[in-house]
Amino acid sequence: MKKLHIKSYGCQMNFYDAGKMADVLRPLGYETSETMDGADLVILNTCHIREKATDKVYSELGKVKMQRQKQENPMLIAVAGCVGQAEGEEIFKRAPYVDMVVGPQSYHTLPEIVSKAARKTGHVIELDFPANEKFDGLPQAEKTSASAFLAVQEGCDKFCTFCVVPYTRGAEYSRPVADIVREATSLVSKGAKELTLLGQNVNAYHGDGWTFGQLIRHLATIDGLERIRYTTSHPRDMEESLITAHAEVPKLMPYLHLPVQSGSDRVLKMMNRKHTIAEYMKTMERVRNARPDIAFSSDFIVGFPGETEADFEGTMNVVREIGYAYAYSFAYSPRPGTPAATFDNQVPEEVKSERLQRLQALILEKQQAFNEAKLGQEMDILIERKGKFAGQMIGKSPWMQSVYLENATHLKGQIVRVKITGAYTNSLSAIIVDSFARVA
Ligand code: SAH
Ligand code: SF4
Ligand code: F3S
Repeated sequence: MKKLHIKSYGCQMNFYDAGKMADVLRPLGYETSETMDGADLVILNTCHIREKATDKVYSELGKVKMQRQKQENPMLIAVAGCVGQAEGEEIFKRAPYVDMVVGPQSYHTLPEIVSKAARKTGHVIELDFPANEKFDGLPQAEKTSASAFLAVQEGCDKFCTFCVVPYTRGAEYSRPVADIVREATSLVSKGAKELTLLGQNVNAYHGDGWTFGQLIRHLATIDGLERIRYTTSHPRDMEESLITAHAEVPKLMPYLHLPVQSGSDRVLKMMNRKHTIAEYMKTMERVRNARPDIAFSSDFIVGFPGETEADFEGTMNVVREIGYAYAYSFAYSPRPGTPAATFDNQVPEEVKSERLQRLQALILEKQQAFNEAKLGQEMDILIERKGKFAGQMIGKSPWMQSVYLENATHLKGQIVRVKITGAYTNSLSAIIVDSFARVA
C-alpha cells in the first residue's frame, strides 16, 4: 500500500473533491493517511478566494519540501484545487520541486497524471475544463459518514466583480438527475443520513431541465435519507419550487445559507450581484413564510472598493434586521484578473479591519441570541463525531448548531431527541430525551 496525504483548504466543494481524489487513486494502491510523514504522494487541495488563502499554499509547500528531504523515499507533490487552476505553470516557477499541477475539473485524470509524474520525466500539468467528464470519470465513494456531501452543480456564470470562482471552476454545469440519484442512493446505503447538496451556485441547478426544488423533492423520496441541506445558493436563484419545497419537504432542513455580501444597493451594483437589498429582503420573507422556523446565514464582504461608512451601515442594518444564526465575514481582498481589483477607490486596510471588527461583533451577538432562544427546547440531532472528553459526542441541530452530549458514544450516526440545557456563542449542550434512537 502507498500512502496518500491530501490537505484541503477552502469551501465544502474542495472537501468533497478530496474524497473523490482518494477514491480515484485507491485502485493504484493509495491509502489515505492523516499525516504526511512517510507519504508517497501529497496533494495540496488549494483555495484561491482571498490572498491569504493563496499565500498559505506556498508556505505549506515549503513544509512539504522539508518533509520530502527527510524521507528516504521522496514523495510526489501535487497542487490541486483553485490555486492550481489559477496559477498553473507559475507554481513550477515558484516551487520547482512540485511534480504536478491539476485543476478542479481534471481529477478523473489523476491516475494518468500520477503515473506520468512517477516516471520523473518532468512537470505534469492538467488544467482542462471538461466538467461532465470529471463527474462521469469518478467512482462512487467506498465509505461515508452520517453526514455526506454530494456535488450536484459546479462552476459559476455570475461573475461578481470581486470573485475568482468563475475563472477557477469554469462555467456552470449541472449533473444529470440519474447520476445524482445513483450517488445519493449509494451514500445512503453506506450509512449517510444527511446529504448536503453542493454547488458554487447550487440553486441555479438545471440538470435535465429540472429545477433545484424538483431535484430536492425527488431526493426526499429516498428511504433512509433523513435530512437534506444545500449550499451555496444565490439570492437571484431562489425559484418558486425551491421556496415551496421548504414548506412541503420535511426532510429539507430549516436552514438557508444565502449570501448577500453587502447591505448597500450601490455596493451590490458595483459587485454585480444583480439584485437590490429590497429584493433580497423580499426573498427572505417568502422563505420565512414558507418555513417559519427557518434560520438564515450569509457571507459578507466589508471594504469593497468605494464602500463608504453609510454603505457599511447598510450592511450592519441587514444583520440587525435578519438576525442571522451564523455568518461569515471577510475584508475585501483584491484578486488578480477580477474587475474590482482594478477599481480606483480601494478602501485602506485599517478601515477594512475596523469595519470587519464591528460587523463581527454584531454577528456574534446575533448568533448568541439565536442559540439562547433554543434553551429548554426539544429537537432532533444527528450525532456525528467525538467531543473532547470521554463519552462526549457532538451532534448537529436542524439549524446547524453543534450540540454536545455526554455518554453518547454508542449513538454515533443516529438521530436522537434531545433537550437543550446550555447555550453558548458557538454551541449548545443537551441531554437525551428519547434514548431509543430513531433508526432509519
Ligand atoms: N458562490 C458563493 C460564494 C463563493 S466564495 C456565492 O455566490 O455566494 C465564498 C465567499 O467568499 C463569498 O460569498 C464572499 O463573501 C467571499 N469572497 C469571495 N471573493 C472575495 C474577495 N475577493 N475578497 C473577500 N471575500 C471574498
Ligand atoms: Fe463568486 Fe459571485 Fe459566482 Fe458566488 S455567484 S461564486 S460570489 S462569482
Ligand atoms: Fe476556494 Fe475554489 Fe472553493 S477558490 S472557496 S476552493 S471554489
